[in-house]
Amino acid sequence: MTAKIIDGKEFAANVRAQVATHVVRLKEEHGITPGLAVILVGEDPASEVYVRNKGKQTVEVGMHSVEHKLDADTTEEALLALIDQLNTDPAIHGILCQLPLPKHLNEELVINSIVPEKDVDGFHISNVGMLSTGQKSMVPCTPLGCLMMLRDHHGSLSGLNAVVVGRSNIVGKPMANLLLRDSCTVTIAHSRTKNIEELCRGADIVVAAVGRPEMITGDWIGKGATVIDVGINRIPHPEKEGKHKLVGDVHFASASQVAGAITPVPGGVGPMTIACLLANTVTACCRINGLAEPEGLTA
Ligand code: GUN
Repeated sequence: MTAKIIDGKEFAANVRAQVATHVVRLKEEHGITPGLAVILVGEDPASEVYVRNKGKQTVEVGMHSVEHKLDADTTEEALLALIDQLNTDPAIHGILCQLPLPKHLNEELVINSIVPEKDVDGFHISNVGMLSTGQKSMVPCTPLGCLMMLRDHHGSLSGLNAVVVGRSNIVGKPMANLLLRDSCTVTIAHSRTKNIEELCRGADIVVAAVGRPEMITGDWIGKGATVIDVGINRIPHPEKEGKHKLVGDVHFASASQVAGAITPVPGGVGPMTIACLLANTVTACCRINGLAEPEGLTA
């Protein structure tokens, strides 16, 4: 069996096109332009690339984009003052503070200082609590993207056995909550799980988000299962000396021989994260303004 490849690039382009349509509607019918503010503290090269892409794509879908680049030694007080200002800025509907933050800044305090309705990352404790109690909330972008692709592939997820490998606050835990909300039977596996291979083999859906290159091989996958690979790992290229390549948490070559459908790395989940950030910004904008929210772009 050779798996269907779930094309995240194409899927993300479709989400962005839907976002752009809603942006036009909001402008034409309500005179509102959704606005996203991104804060970057310090000079982490990977974060800089990511923030640049966010800004570019925000503008491409017709939204208002603001970037705040702060020095690595910015005080917590200054960062909180900026967030306070964005919290009350009527032109801003989404605020994202790029993680990780420099060590001297308290990440939890900073995240929880963003008003929950503008927390397009879905990391605020209120949004986490609302998601886990099944209430309407802002949902973290990467799990939202995975959910969209799973719903598209399966239609209903009800009754399916899902194993989420990884228990992070950003992906694993919210992913498990979203799958539970769609009536999957959910297992969260992690580095201490004893029978992890067996658990994965029994799953209809495996979501891999552990950050261990190619850990999940084909013999861990049940025949016809859907595999969503969230991992993005840079490893030395096996054939080209001095070069690197990107691989997921799943060993693609072997897993794709067994799975029914699989996301590749790159070009799978990755492009969906920014697309879902844009979707979340439109959703936040609609909710803040008491307007009907876009269908198909929320959980
Ligand atoms: N750093 C890596 N991924 C993310 C993300 O999704 N949101 C934020 N705020 N920081 C990140």
